[in-house]
Amino acid sequence: MNWKITLSEPDIGIEELEAVKKVFASNWFTMGSITLDFENKFAQMTNTKYAFAVTNCTAALHLANLALGIIEGDEVIVPALTFVASANASRYTGAKVVFADSISENDLTVCPEHIESLITERTKAITVVHYAGFSCDMKAVLNIAKKYDLKIIEDCAHSPLAQCELDGGKLYLGGIGDIGCFSFFGNKNMTTAEGGMITTNDDELATKLKLLRSHGMTSLTFDRHKGHQSGYDVVSLGLNYRIDELRSAIGLVQLDKLENFNEQRREVFKLYVKYLSGNDNIIVPFKDRDLNLATPHIMPVIVKNSIEKIKSALKEAGIQTSKHYDLIPTFTLYRDEPFTSQIEHIENILTLPMSQKLTEEDVKYICCVINSI
Ligand SMILES: Cc1ncc(COP(=O)(O)O)c(C=O)c1O
Repeated sequence: MNWKITLSEPDIGIEELEAVKKVFASNWFTMGSITLDFENKFAQMTNTKYAFAVTNCTAALHLANLALGIIEGDEVIVPALTFVASANASRYTGAKVVFADSISENDLTVCPEHIESLITERTKAITVVHYAGFSCDMKAVLNIAKKYDLKIIEDCAHSPLAQCELDGGKLYLGGIGDIGCFSFFGNKNMTTAEGGMITTNDDELATKLKLLRSHGMTSLTFDRHKGHQSGYDVVSLGLNYRIDELRSAIGLVQLDKLENFNEQRREVFKLYVKYLSGNDNIIVPFKDRDLNLATPHIMPVIVKNSIEKIKSALKEAGIQTSKHYDLIPTFTLYRDEPFTSQIEHIENILTLPMSQKLTEEDVKYICCVINSI
């Protein structure tokens, strides 16, 4: 399809290409010094003690579940409204996933009261998702975790450098719960094509995550290449979820641009709010949030009536849309658990284009089409 406006667009160019060329010139491609730089910079920018680069966010989420000791028979509470990877990552361990509803049509993040009502003696962890780049109610989630002695995994795939207000200060997401998981997939606020990062402030978890990322081995090929280590032991049943120097080089450049990308996305979000403000048929979730803390990643709106008509009109106008998301418990794999959302029109989410490359003219055009129905 030849879209006039695509749903998302990577913002990647000559600087990233130059960085990749340098990796070719170095003739070292697997995890090495560039990855270490990428990790250190990410940890510094998110104000976390440790950051480990991985193949993707799904791998990060899987490692998070493993490092937290989630096993068969455990239960993990996950939002119903998220990408399926947030739930699958717990299923890989044999744990049962229990789904929590969103707060409201205006705030689609996970509802803390509903989380609390789902807790049983088997519950081990809560995975929260900072949906669309807007923080969950972390204060409430932290209180619940403390009360019931639960672990918190923050799925930050949509929220690199987003923050939330806590105890009178602003904290970066991904460093508030036990483990944070980030995605650098091609449609994300920053990209390495495929890629991800895992963050923690906990020394013990950091040791486990690092081992689990690479076969449970006590040294890397790079350590041995540098002569720092001559052999290795295998101390846990790890995986190969390593990133590589090519992606890390791209990631370092993208990290330099990320603040700017996020700022541009906030401007696009504001334009949508402006041009959809007179339309009573459209709810723009999060429009009352402090946008300075957010990193708009996708642009979900709720269409009260005539969603099919609006979708067709947008398609006709060359505007790509999507739906983030079908609720996970509606998928065949997860249908065994009865789940009914209390959020009116939640099945009518329509995702509009969002990227830092969108102009005011683009947003005006998209909203004009919607407002014409
Ligand atoms: C909320 C959420 N979690 C996890 C993922 C998985 O990320 P990745 O594609 O990097 O594995 C995504 C991907 O879109 C996502 O949106």
